[in-house]
Amino acid sequence: MPGRSRVVRGIRRSAAGLLARGDAAAPASGAAPAAAGGAGSPAPLWPSYPPPHYRGQLHPDFQAQMAKLRSGARREDCNWYHTFELPDGTVVPGAWDLRGGEDDYLGGTELRGRRVLELGPASGYLTFHMERQGAEVVAFEGGFDVSVDLLPVNGEELVHEKMKLMRETVDRVHNSWWYMHRQYGSSAKLVHGNIYELPGDLGDFDVAVFGAILLHLREPWGALAEAARRTRHRIVVTDLIQDREAPLDSNVMRFSPLATHEISNWWSIYPGAVVSMLERLGFRGARITEHQQTHHLGHDLSAAPIRIPMFTVVADRG
Ligand SMILES: C[S@@+](CC[C@H](N)C(=O)[O-])C[C@H]1O[C@@H](n2cnc3c(N)ncnc32)[C@H](O)[C@@H]1O
Repeated sequence: MPGRSRVVRGIRRSAAGLLARGDAAAPASGAAPAAAGGAGSPAPLWPSYPPPHYRGQLHPDFQAQMAKLRSGARREDCNWYHTFELPDGTVVPGAWDLRGGEDDYLGGTELRGRRVLELGPASGYLTFHMERQGAEVVAFEGGFDVSVDLLPVNGEELVHEKMKLMRETVDRVHNSWWYMHRQYGSSAKLVHGNIYELPGDLGDFDVAVFGAILLHLREPWGALAEAARRTRHRIVVTDLIQDREAPLDSNVMRFSPLATHEISNWWSIYPGAVVSMLERLGFRGARITEHQQTHHLGHDLSAAPIRIPMFTVVADRG
């Protein structure tokens, strides 16, 4: 077995993940506003103290405070997970260009007047798209003192790598969400906490959207069940089609499907497994659709974009 340091050096990003070659060694972002790190200090925002039980984040004052904290972030302080068009027409390139593919990605879900919980928005392309379609969006991310899940290597939790990922990548992704929030004059909200135990005061939602996040979670069932408890109408799950070793409607989840050094892809989830989990949670009549989305492999924007096969499952309560 390769030694841990070799394994860690070999970190590669997955197609949908946030890790990129070099990210693990990237210098700390200079994005931290003075409020976060003191004058002139590029101190990262992670970890930071959560409000008690992660409550109170939907309050307008709290959101204003978070927006202010990120208001100093410039374009170069952001990690662009998605491609965006700024209001002046400038295109900001990102690793995933979902433009034109939004309906497929969201399984044709009607959004007008709907209250939507979006799990793992990254730069927020779908957040702002759904808002434009008339939804009230609450986007949920890790943060404060909660890291994303990384696979252990040789029995060791990658504590150091989690710190680096949160500080140097996820933090910059959050910058991009707030950057576009500002650009679009958005009213969407971004909240943080533990995806397996959501803040108790988020309220109920009409729709919950899991866009390319289940594969990155240690416990996809736990996250689905937690969101389901607060979802009145529909759950939308979109994920990568990572293999076709069985028919897509098979009830299959393959653990750690990529090379052994991969640390963020926990699962190759088949849509059939998602359908089965959603049925158990009381969401029925599931529909599976396949589509392709445009991606720069390895988040390398100099590489030609390719089309990545994905699936979307939508299921409704009742
Ligand atoms: C691959 S991106 C998907 C972005 C977007 N939903 C889409 O479909 O284009 C996954 C997002 O989920 C977030 N995420 C991953 N693991 C998480 C966890 N355990 N808790 C909360 N957010 C998490 C990441 O920070 C990232 O923003």
